Amino acid sequence: MIRASTIGFLLPIAVLAASSHFSRFSEGVGVGGACHFPAIFNFGDSNSDTGGLSAVFGQAPAPNGETHFGGPAGRYCDGRLVVDFIAESLGLPHLSAYLDSMGTNFSHGANFATAGSPIISPNTSGFSPINLNVQLVEYSEFCSRSQIIRSRGGMFAKLMPKEEYLSRGLYTFDVGQNDLTAGLKMNETIEQIKAGLPEIIARFSDVVTKVYAQGGRSFWVHNTGPLGCLIYILDRFGDEYNLDEYGCAIEINEMARHFNSLLKESVEGLRRDLPEASITYVDIYTVKYDLITRAEKHGFEQPFVVCCGHGGKYNYNDSRRCGAKITIDGKEVVIAKSCRDPSVRVSWDGIHFTEAANRWIFKQIATGAFSDPPVQLTMACHSTIQC
Ligand SMILES: *[C@@H]1O[C@H](CO)[C@@H](O)[C@H](O)[C@H]1NC(C)=O
Ligand SMILES: *[C@@H]1O[C@H](CO)[C@@H](O)[C@H](O)[C@H]1NC(C)=O
Ligand SMILES: *[C@@H]1O[C@H](CO)[C@@H](O)[C@H](O)[C@H]1NC(C)=O
Ligand SMILES: *[C@@H]1O[C@H](CO)[C@@H](O)[C@H](O)[C@H]1NC(C)=O
Repeated sequence: MIRASTIGFLLPIAVLAASSHFSRFSEGVGVGGACHFPAIFNFGDSNSDTGGLSAVFGQAPAPNGETHFGGPAGRYCDGRLVVDFIAESLGLPHLSAYLDSMGTNFSHGANFATAGSPIISPNTSGFSPINLNVQLVEYSEFCSRSQIIRSRGGMFAKLMPKEEYLSRGLYTFDVGQNDLTAGLKMNETIEQIKAGLPEIIARFSDVVTKVYAQGGRSFWVHNTGPLGCLIYILDRFGDEYNLDEYGCAIEINEMARHFNSLLKESVEGLRRDLPEASITYVDIYTVKYDLITRAEKHGFEQPFVVCCGHGGKYNYNDSRRCGAKITIDGKEVVIAKSCRDPSVRVSWDGIHFTEAANRWIFKQIATGAFSDPPVQLTMACHSTIQC
């Protein structure tokens, strides 16, 4: 088996060449100039987990990772995630997971996300214990200990970020999906789930405020996706809700949009409270909904059929998820295998998108067309400037 963390640093030559140019630029060259982020610090769930959960609870099994990494790479995807494309486009290496103790390199950032992470831990099982508050504690540890370790010099200095990177880095967030699904899982009504959202959003705001207090200035916040179009939700709850013309659960999507409107309001509040912060709110919901509901137009096929799964209406069975094995004649065989061509598919495993879909999503959001304010990714240190 190939180690995920090693592979994470195999970069295309062009990307390595780009990162070597960092030293030529100083911070904030001219209003509106490219930001030249030297690091990324990511918080979230499986949408952006590059190996956190798998380092502690076991690897996401093959065929996860097969498209880009040649084997399991700590990601719930056949290849790269949106956060990987963000890193590549900024000329940075893929992010090591903070929890991964082997082969990691934090010189250009760290990833605190783990699959199944909520903002606030729900009163039910099946979610990561590494909620957003825990990720904040990890981040605080990282800020202080990375500098102590760096001061040892030699190789240690090459594994930890420079102190200035902590303030100059881009802070990315993609979290909240599990808070919503936890409510569904606990059989709460949509109204009950909505009633709990202000507390969840307040916790999110609090975490951003605390990162700012430790020096973070540039924030890139993804809203939550169209949960009502995701196959794991449709498979379990689809029968209980009305479906739209495409097959997405209307009330669940409406709940996700309600979460997003509260998140957007909280970002507006944060901009007022944190005068030096540059916070970009990214409407990834609209991008994902467009991809799923108009897949053919965008060059994709079968948005409601899982690529890596087994059986049932959506090629998805919750008890036989991607990579699941059964024993035949004393021999283990993978029963939930990859489809023939993941590069034209939207849903990788019923929960997560394929690498091809992630690349497409990244291209849409990087332009700033779905951002508030409408700044592109490379300008995300200027979101305080009126556009
Ligand atoms: C959590 O769930 C348990 C068992 O269902 C219940 O007894 C307890 O009151 C719940 N706690 C909260 C805070 O809802
Ligand atoms: C960590 O990664 C950076 C950037 O890719 C690289 O320059 C550095 O040499 C790596 N550190 C070690 C110890 O390999
Ligand atoms: C939710 O409802 C389902 C179906 O009615 C039931 O099987 C399950 O135990 C319920 N879960 C909780 C947490 O109440
Ligand atoms: C899902 O898999 C389980 C075995 O793990 C099986 O019992 C069940 O019938 C399957 N469901 C469907 C819809 O195929």
